Amino acid sequence: MEVKAVVLPINRSSKNYSMVCGDALEWLKKASHHSIHAVVTDPPYGLIEYKPDQLQKLRGKKGGVWRIPPSFDGCQRTPLPRFTVLTEDDKNEMKRFFWRLANLLRKVLVPGGHVFIATNPLLSYLVYEPFISVGFEKRGEIARTTQTLRGGDRPKNAHREFPDVSVMPRSCWEPWGLFRNPCEGRVQDNLRKWGTGALRRISEDEPFKDLIGSGPARGHERKIAPHPSLKPQAFIRQIVRAALPLGDGVILDPFMGSGSTIAAAEACGFKSIGIEKDLEYYKMALRAIPLLSTIKTEIGGLSGR
Ligand SMILES: C[S@@+](CC[C@H](N)C(=O)[O-])C[C@H]1O[C@@H](n2cnc3c(N)ncnc32)[C@H](O)[C@@H]1O
Repeated sequence: MEVKAVVLPINRSSKNYSMVCGDALEWLKKASHHSIHAVVTDPPYGLIEYKPDQLQKLRGKKGGVWRIPPSFDGCQRTPLPRFTVLTEDDKNEMKRFFWRLANLLRKVLVPGGHVFIATNPLLSYLVYEPFISVGFEKRGEIARTTQTLRGGDRPKNAHREFPDVSVMPRSCWEPWGLFRNPCEGRVQDNLRKWGTGALRRISEDEPFKDLIGSGPARGHERKIAPHPSLKPQAFIRQIVRAALPLGDGVILDPFMGSGSTIAAAEACGFKSIGIEKDLEYYKMALRAIPLLSTIKTEIGGLSGR
């Protein structure tokens, strides 16, 4: 199957993947109908954290929407965006953004194509509602159990007064919304015609499951790709592998960051396309994908087939 990548200012293609430096929504507007078989993505949340002014603050260690978690055990921790600072206007803007994204994905995905979209317990409803409203079927939610260090704090400036109180639960999981473009006819018909409509099993005896234990990306992977939202290969390869039930087709990550999804697709031997707007992260992905894709993981090994 031909992979058509719209040529934007910077673009790199290999046998299995294409990378585009540009805006995902603009790219999607020009992409061909029914050219993508699955989307695996970790989008910007709050939209503001990846805007140039906030990225400048992050890179200058000036905070802004980014919070540097305390280093209580001597470990250097990656910054986290503070989603609680979002205003009602920010949330409405976010809903409009996900509505536009969902609409464009409906067009480029083949019937039965799945979308796996990373979110968080505070904001997931702002993503799910637009996806359902444009006609995607909600097919469940994947719970990635991981300590995010988000929440669990005592009331600000009143820690001593309320020592037994947490303002919010300490988050121990990351929800991934799972959506499907409606199938053409029965699942079996859709599988024959488009190669999609279902999820790849872990093995003959074991179906794909919606609970996946996975710590944050650490050590070697983080050195290769020091992106604040890097997803570990051991986790993302499981998602990518499940997304193409017959192992054929093209995976799209419209917000690829440092390219962990594309590296996972490469490790599984799948075709993929990654889009990233920020030039620094695009260059990071360029270097990181060949290295991340050859990392040995405990789960899934090198090959997803
Ligand atoms: C949450 S991060 C993804 C990180 C990725 N999962 C990884 O492992 O590196 C989202 C990325 O989307 C990029 N981004 C934000 N808005 C975008 C847009 N409109 N088009 C393309 N990329 C965008 C940001 O620069 C950021 O790198």
